[in-house]
Amino acid sequence: MYPIVEWKDNKVYMIDQRILPLEEKYIEHSDYNEVAKSIKDMVIRGAPAIGVAAAMGVALGILNAEKIDDTVFNRIVETISSTRPTAVNLFWAVERMKKIFAQYKYDITLLKRKMKEEALTIDKEDVEINKKIGTNGHVLLKSGQTVLTHCNAGALATAGYGTALGVIRAAVANNKNITVVADETRPYLQGARLTVWELQEDNIPVKLITDNMAGYIMAKGLIDAVIVGADRIAGNGDIANKIGTYSVAVLANYHNIPFYVAAPVSTIDFSIDSGKQIPIEERSKEEVTYFMNQRIARPETEVYNPAFDVTPQHLVSAIVTEKKVLFPDFKTAIDQLQEEEKDSWQ
Ligand code: MRU
Repeated sequence: MYPIVEWKDNKVYMIDQRILPLEEKYIEHSDYNEVAKSIKDMVIRGAPAIGVAAAMGVALGILNAEKIDDTVFNRIVETISSTRPTAVNLFWAVERMKKIFAQYKYDITLLKRKMKEEALTIDKEDVEINKKIGTNGHVLLKSGQTVLTHCNAGALATAGYGTALGVIRAAVANNKNITVVADETRPYLQGARLTVWELQEDNIPVKLITDNMAGYIMAKGLIDAVIVGADRIAGNGDIANKIGTYSVAVLANYHNIPFYVAAPVSTIDFSIDSGKQIPIEERSKEEVTYFMNQRIARPETEVYNPAFDVTPQHLVSAIVTEKKVLFPDFKTAIDQLQEEEKDSWQ
């Protein structure tokens, strides 16, 4: 698998996910504004990958700044933070960079080194975290099962290995026969373009369906489990993930199919009690009125284009994190996890 986002010679390189799998091209970023634009334009996407890119963007901003003070730093942070509102990993990564800035801002040479180091640590940690999610989560899957996933929560959505696809990768590494059914994930086609591509690269059997086929396939008994990633998890276990996830969760519930979510602890927003507080990104109407650069509706057509939806916690069977697997009641499980996290920092 190719690097998703990479820091090299004080530049940030990202594989352009907008054109995968038709072209495999890297975009070079030498300025934090370019990183911000690439996050917004979905050159890079997926909550953990956005977090890594955000950290690298902030580090790049500091490295290239001629003068460094609070105003300059805040401008960099605001630019990066205003790119995509739903994935909390972006804000979590920026918070980590803020702490480094506060600690080292009086020694510019040291600050530049520490900012770069922190961004690279976030990158490296993410792969390790995903592998732990895989180890914790694959016990939920049995050999011979067919698992449906929505969007792309794979290596491409992270620094590597993936969250939901990390669980599938770990199951396969443990000699389990797993077949994946991938929703195409309109309008951006992360499932068709990215999930299918990366599973094929790993020789993991995958079948592609359009989003409206999931119900029929579940009713036929062809799906044993659903596993998806998350962009933000509220304190009660409500899950924001790619638009369409909620519909899949309702269908899974109706057909008595377990619905699993795999995400790092950094995706849990301990500051909010419910999914109602999660900001949902609205994207351009052209994403809906065009398909692969071909207009499919009149230009004046009015559209809704929410990029995410919220799955209420009662539809979730388990949340797999790198620390442990959480089961209902999620509020109690998440409160306890938060306490354990506090203890581990003390
Ligand atoms: O709009 P995207 O492609 O950034 O949305 C991505 C998703 O919804 C993923 O499922 C989520 O970020 C989890 S990625 C491990």
